[in-house]
Amino acid sequence: MADTDLPKNLTVVNHPLVLHKLTLMRDKHTPSAVFRQLLHEISLLLAYEVARDLPMTTQTIETPVAEMEAPILKGKKLVIVSILRAGNGLLEGMLNLMPSARVGHIGLYRDPKTLQPVEYYMKVPDDIAERRVIVVDPMLATGNSVVAALTRLKEKGAKDIRLVCLLSVPEGIRRVASAHPDVPIYTAAVDSHLNDHGYIVPGLGDAGDRMFGTK
Ligand code: URA
Repeated sequence: MADTDLPKNLTVVNHPLVLHKLTLMRDKHTPSAVFRQLLHEISLLLAYEVARDLPMTTQTIETPVAEMEAPILKGKKLVIVSILRAGNGLLEGMLNLMPSARVGHIGLYRDPKTLQPVEYYMKVPDDIAERRVIVVDPMLATGNSVVAALTRLKEKGAKDIRLVCLLSVPEGIRRVASAHPDVPIYTAAVDSHLNDHGYIVPGLGDAGDRMFGTK
């Protein structure tokens, strides 16, 4: 995908630390424990980026030296929604940086034949309409699961949504951007394409299996 084809609301977090850690994750010889640790570390860096435009205010405080009007978060209510199961690999790091965020879960699995998402679980805070929603899923492949998750969240009232994924491909980005143009996307890398099994190429394999050692 040429840069001009990228949707305007796509942010590629191609920081050297992110790219270095991502390369280690891609390597098929990297064991699950190291893979999880790297995903956690990258999630902190992605959280930093997705939180960049959180509203701020100021508060009068006294340092040991002087009084000052100091910047402080305005207290925007947040919810981080993990698309199970691989989304959980990004969740903890997000919570480390945004500890008072609520957490939602959406269980979707990909039917291996149709590649269509099938929902089996959903639990999000009742007041999701008043919260900024950060949806986390490491792999934006066909985009089918993410589009379904975003649609369900909007049905529940979510209005202010951002999507964070580790790896993506142009077709997945386009699919999300056309179904949900209001949702900014944050990703560490845009890979080449999907193979016939719906895997990202070169990718890193099945993120859930790599995290949990299930294959
Ligand atoms: N989901 C994964 O875990 N890996 C891919 O490459 C595509 C979807």
